[in-house]
Amino acid sequence: MTPTLKPIETYRDDFTFSNSAQAIARFPFPFPEDQYMYSVNIEPATPREPGSVFEHWFDIDEHYRSEMAERARVVQQDPRRYLVMPHMQTASWDALQMFMEHLSNDYPTLFSLTRTGDQWHWQNHVLGIDQHFTFGDPDTLPCEPLEFITRQVQGDIALLDQRDNDLFMDAGMVTSPADWSLAFDAGMSFKQWHTPVPMAHELGVFDRALKYLLNIQVDKPVRRLNWTLTINPRLDTSPETFHEWGHDRSTVTAENAGALVHLRVELQFMARLPRSNGLMFSIRTYLISLNELVTNPAWAKRLHRVLRDLPAPIADYKGMTRYRQPLLEWLSQFDPHA
Ligand code: HEM
Repeated sequence: MTPTLKPIETYRDDFTFSNSAQAIARFPFPFPEDQYMYSVNIEPATPREPGSVFEHWFDIDEHYRSEMAERARVVQQDPRRYLVMPHMQTASWDALQMFMEHLSNDYPTLFSLTRTGDQWHWQNHVLGIDQHFTFGDPDTLPCEPLEFITRQVQGDIALLDQRDNDLFMDAGMVTSPADWSLAFDAGMSFKQWHTPVPMAHELGVFDRALKYLLNIQVDKPVRRLNWTLTINPRLDTSPETFHEWGHDRSTVTAENAGALVHLRVELQFMARLPRSNGLMFSIRTYLISLNELVTNPAWAKRLHRVLRDLPAPIADYKGMTRYRQPLLEWLSQFDPHA
């Protein structure tokens, strides 16, 4: 199903934050300290101040239309960005319900939901979708329930099946990953899909994180931030399209780093799905150019120190080894006493 879309050039900045200073202030800067090391940085997803990215379970911002258009384009070119294994049907309906309830409650001018028993009426006023359907009956939707709803929410989604004291990546819609692939990870367990991450296994991070996730209760979601760097404001940095973006890393110089390098922050949200006992993992990605980031002097200084002292295996995993030196050279001007 492809929602009716306006031409892409009309999508920019037509939503809540047309002012870039507001957008910068809203950016979820991920570093509480001058150093960074992997840790189990999970916290309850309690709402924070109005207007912040932490206000609602699912954040909708000024990039909504463009990101939904991008998702439609990417999944059309590569249908393997979307996956639902047969045993994940109940979890898919759980996810659809969670999104529809929260989006319509939190953004009533954008989305509405009315229900009479299992007869549901969903309206997405932004994308012009008006759908009556029978909850639980896939034949009453234009496509599978997880596809229907994930074409209408910003951020990537994985649905994890919980069994044998583990989590398995058995469903999802992933069109803007930070260099990983749903098709490759399909069916893998928590530690299997985390295999490429350096240092964290040895530190026991994944043992503790898995234990925490297995015990998440209904209506008690948790969140964490993850980060990396991306060259150009590109959302789809997947292995499948590496030939399109991998080369960009070799173009960074001490002169152009502020414009080319972007800090990429993922707001990850984990919630128990009530009927299936699965886990929803949503990844909302925010990109900021370093030129924008350094308008906040405290952020500029801290980022310089974090990147300067980042252990080589982590820098390498995050793909920054090739341009780390010119980037540090550029950043050091904002941290003169370092
Ligand atoms: C069930 C929820 C989760 C899913 C689906 C998930 C998925 C992933 C995936 C696909 C990757 C990329 C691995 C690769 O390079 O191929 C990754 C990286 C990582 N994950 Fe998770 N993850 C989850 C929860 C967590 C939690 C709770 C933690 C807590 C510590 C965590 C820590 C990490 C770290 C540290 C990385 C490396 C990121 C980087 O350095 O950029 N993950 N995760």
